[in-house]
Amino acid sequence: MANILLINGPNLNLLGSREPDLYGEVNLENIESSLTELAKKHGHSLDCFQSNAEHEIVDKIQAGQNSDTQFILINPGAFTHTSIAMRDALLAINIPFFEIHLSNTFSREDFRHKSYFSDVASGCLIGLGAHGYELALLAAIKKIDLS
Ligand code: DQA
Repeated sequence: MANILLINGPNLNLLGSREPDLYGEVNLENIESSLTELAKKHGHSLDCFQSNAEHEIVDKIQAGQNSDTQFILINPGAFTHTSIAMRDALLAINIPFFEIHLSNTFSREDFRHKSYFSDVASGCLIGLGAHGYELALLAAIKKIDLS
């Protein structure tokens, strides 16, 4: 059994009510509970974490090194486009991760086209809405089970 860590960054606690045309109507609680069930069904566990604070996310990523975390799924929210600190934390712990975005960041403002994560991620799921989280989890499980 592996532990997978799901991290959601700033404002993703508002999913469901936040700009539903862009981000959908499913709230974070529902995403986290259905993913937890899905992980369980495949014999793994999921640790869910959301924060609006960059340093808390950096601390959570660093803590992954001292736990049995084998894979990280992360939607860094707006920190995607700004956070060298979160990128460095992920590089420091050497745990593979997938980057997730509900919206297609490439069809939006220019400042959303730059990600500090994509070039070091094992994979990116962008613009698939809440379904992207599910697909990311299934892909992570496949990688874990094959390793
Ligand atoms: C987002 C895209 C980011 O540009 C934005 O700041 C978010 C959400 C997404 O999931 O589409 O907060 O990460």
